[in-house]
Amino acid sequence: MGFLKGIRKKDSGTIAVLTSGGDAPGMNAAVRAVVRAAIANGLKVKGIQRGYTGLLEEDFVDMEARSVSDIIQRGGTILYTARCPEMMHLDGQEKAAMILRKKGIDCLIVIGGDGSYRGALALANQGINVIGIPGTIDLDIACTDYTIGFDTALNTAMDAIDKVRDTSTSHERCSIIEVMGRKAGHIALWCGIANGAEEILVPERYDYEEQSIIDRINARKKLGKKLHIIINAEGIGDSNGMAKRIEAATGLETRATIIGYIQRGGSPTCRDRVFASAMGAKAVDIYVSGGQNRIVCYRKGEFTDMDITEALAMQKDIDSSLWEISRKLCR
Ligand code: ADP
Ligand code: F6P
Repeated sequence: MGFLKGIRKKDSGTIAVLTSGGDAPGMNAAVRAVVRAAIANGLKVKGIQRGYTGLLEEDFVDMEARSVSDIIQRGGTILYTARCPEMMHLDGQEKAAMILRKKGIDCLIVIGGDGSYRGALALANQGINVIGIPGTIDLDIACTDYTIGFDTALNTAMDAIDKVRDTSTSHERCSIIEVMGRKAGHIALWCGIANGAEEILVPERYDYEEQSIIDRINARKKLGKKLHIIINAEGIGDSNGMAKRIEAATGLETRATIIGYIQRGGSPTCRDRVFASAMGAKAVDIYVSGGQNRIVCYRKGEFTDMDITEALAMQKDIDSSLWEISRKLCR
C-alpha cells in the first residue's frame, strides 16, 4: 500500500458491516474477523441486519467481541442477508448514505458479491467510504482468485455428485447434475474434474450443440461405457429438458438432479474459515491505513486490495488451464 505512505493510521471511528446478496459459508467468519480486528484497533463496530434493506430500515446493532462468539463454524450469516431493489435507484442510495452519515459511520464494510459492490460503489459516489469483501459461492468476482464460500460449496456439491454417481452406476443410467454458479461455470468446472465427469458444461465454453454430446455418449456406449455423468452449470440450465432429449436420442435412461440450495449452506471448510478471517482482518487494516473505496482480493497467493471502480470493470473467465486439463480427462 505504497500510496498510503505518510497517512496517519486511524485508531478511532466507527465502522459498520453488512452481508448482502446470496449468503455463503464463511460469511460469519468474515463478520467475526471484522468485528474483532476493529475492536483490536480501538474502533467501534455496528452490524447492519439484512444487507441494504436493513440499512434503509436503520436496523443497526452494536457489535462487541462477544457478539461474534461461537459463529466461526456456522454456515449462513448471523447478520442475515437480502436483495434490496431500492438500492438500485438514486433515491435509495441517497437515503442509505444519509442514514450512514446520521449514524456516524466512517466506513461501511460490505461482504457480498459484485452486485453488492455496485451498491457499495453507489454509496462511494455519495461520499461514503466503502470496503468490499468477496463473499459468494460462485467465484464470479473478477478482481480476486478466491471468494468466501466457494470451497465449502464445491465440497458440498462434490459429495452430492458422488452420491448420485452411486445410484447412476447401479442403474446404469446417464445423470445430468446441475450445480449453482449464476452465469459462471467455476463450480461446474471444479466439480466436473473432482467427480470425474464425462461431460462438463459451462456457460463460458458451451456451444449449445447438444447433438455433439449425444454423439459422444453413443460413442462411449459402443466402447462398453455404462455410466455417464454430465455436470451442467446453472447458467446453462434446462437440465430436465436435456435429460429427456438425451434419453430419447440415446435410448439410455437419463435423470436430472438439480442440487440447489444445499450448496449455499453448511459449516464452512477450513479454507473458507481461514480466508474469511484473513479477508475480514484485511478490510479493517485497509480502513486503519486510510484506504478509501477498496475491495479486498486474493491474487497470486497474496491478500491485497484494489480500487472498487477498477475491480468492477474487470471481466472474469473460467480458469483456462483447468479447462484444458478437463478436456483431456473427460472420456
Ligand atoms: P451479489 O452481491 O451476491 O452479486 P446481487 O446481485 O443480488 O448479489 O446484489 C445484492 C444487492 O446489491 C442487490 O439486491 C441490490 O440491493 C444491490 N445492487 C446490485 N446491483 C446494484 C446496482 N447496479 N446498483 C446499486 N445496487 C445494486
Ligand atoms: O450467488 C449465489 C447463488 O446461489 C447463485 O449461484 C444463484 O444463481 C443465486 O445465488 C440464487 O439466488 P436466490 O437465493 O435469489 O435464489
